[in-house]
Amino acid sequence: MEDTIVGLDIGTTKTCAVIGFVNENNQIEVTGVGIAPSRGLKNGVIINIDNTVSSIVKAIEDAELMAGTEVGAAYVGVTGQHIKGENSKGVVAVSNRQRTITPVEIKRVIEAAQAVVIPVDREIIHVLSKEFSVDDQTGIKDPIGMSGVRLEAEVHIITGSTTTIQNLLKSANRAGYQCSDVIFAPLASAEATLSRDEKELGVALIDIGGGTTDIVVFIEGGVAYSSVLSIGGIHVTSDISIGLRTPIESAEVIKKKHGASVVDLVDASETIEVPSVGGRAPRRIFRQELAQIIEPRMLEIMEMVDRELARSGKKDILAAGIVLTGGGAMIEGCVEAAERVFNMPVRVGIPRDIAGLKDVVATPQYANGVGLLKYGIKMSRFRTKSKSDRSGGMGSFGTKFRKFLDNYF
Ligand SMILES: Nc1ncnc2c1ncn2[C@@H]1O[C@H](COP(=O)(O)OP(=O)(O)OP(=O)(O)O)[C@@H](O)[C@H]1O
Ligand SMILES: [Mg+2]
Repeated sequence: MEDTIVGLDIGTTKTCAVIGFVNENNQIEVTGVGIAPSRGLKNGVIINIDNTVSSIVKAIEDAELMAGTEVGAAYVGVTGQHIKGENSKGVVAVSNRQRTITPVEIKRVIEAAQAVVIPVDREIIHVLSKEFSVDDQTGIKDPIGMSGVRLEAEVHIITGSTTTIQNLLKSANRAGYQCSDVIFAPLASAEATLSRDEKELGVALIDIGGGTTDIVVFIEGGVAYSSVLSIGGIHVTSDISIGLRTPIESAEVIKKKHGASVVDLVDASETIEVPSVGGRAPRRIFRQELAQIIEPRMLEIMEMVDRELARSGKKDILAAGIVLTGGGAMIEGCVEAAERVFNMPVRVGIPRDIAGLKDVVATPQYANGVGLLKYGIKMSRFRTKSKSDRSGGMGSFGTKFRKFLDNYF
């Protein structure tokens, strides 16, 4: 049996640990899940280490108890507005005697593509290959073995604030777990929920969390655009709390129980109970009144996403439409609201192609945690071959190259 790995989703509202391994049928088997409220983050970024550490300990311990195993390596998700995604290109001459592209040329061209100026306070999280060109032939996925004199690579580079990433690593370490790597959160959600066909056809994954909404656009199998917005389900809850004059905690309960993102989809006669503040008696209101508070905020989130999709320049070629993940996508009518704004097919993404506790994690809120486990397993398989490690002296090129390779192979 291969080592057991944990996907650690340190979100703004909850910390979620998903434990699993690759079983004898070569499937990813989820064996334990733990979830604990987060109290140390704002808009996806750690603002209190101690609180974050206790959430991590609680989530992983619960998952370990369920799995009946202890975990070694943790793969941790990172998000927040400090994350930037940009496209870059590199060109090299194929200089070996056979004029044949080998892994050496791939390594050189990826290095060339990474020669963008990265400020000292930022670091590369991913270098994702999009496509290669050999001489005048474009759109090549795997050029190894081809003949040519000129090799060009197009990549998508995701960078983040070094101190923010350090705080994630520090929190995991203080909780007693070794963090093997950080992964941009929505890439993990995509890994858990999207099919290869969707990524080839063109699809946008939108993860609506508590404090952030994350966007990744896939075109022809590669990442073409990524972005993070500082808005999410917390804003919906806060609107309900103000609109119905009820404490945040009850606004959250009401949202989850009765919330709806589209007013017209709610029966006009349906009523719900709202607890009041200051010991006054609870009131009954029409459920449509609640939807009237939620709808504009959900539309605002979708419209902000829509502007990002327009900025990506790829909105018109998303043949597979939009996939929504994150707890924010669990609100009734979310798909309908999104379809109205984006004007294309929308579905909710739940983790796929897994064994074990698949029914337990069959919600969009677990997409991130399960995806971190899946991505982590992929990375750890590669790491076994390359023997590079985040904690064990990461040579800058080694890390960058490794990050590229786990996307490429
Ligand atoms: N059934 C539900 N109906 C409506 N909203 C829900 C439901 N379940 C969860 N949510 C909302 O989803 C949000 C949390 O989603 P998620 O767990 O994906 O976020 P997070 O990972 O903690 O935050 P982030 O990704 O922004 O850092 C909360 O705002 C919560 O109210
Ligand atoms: Mg999240």
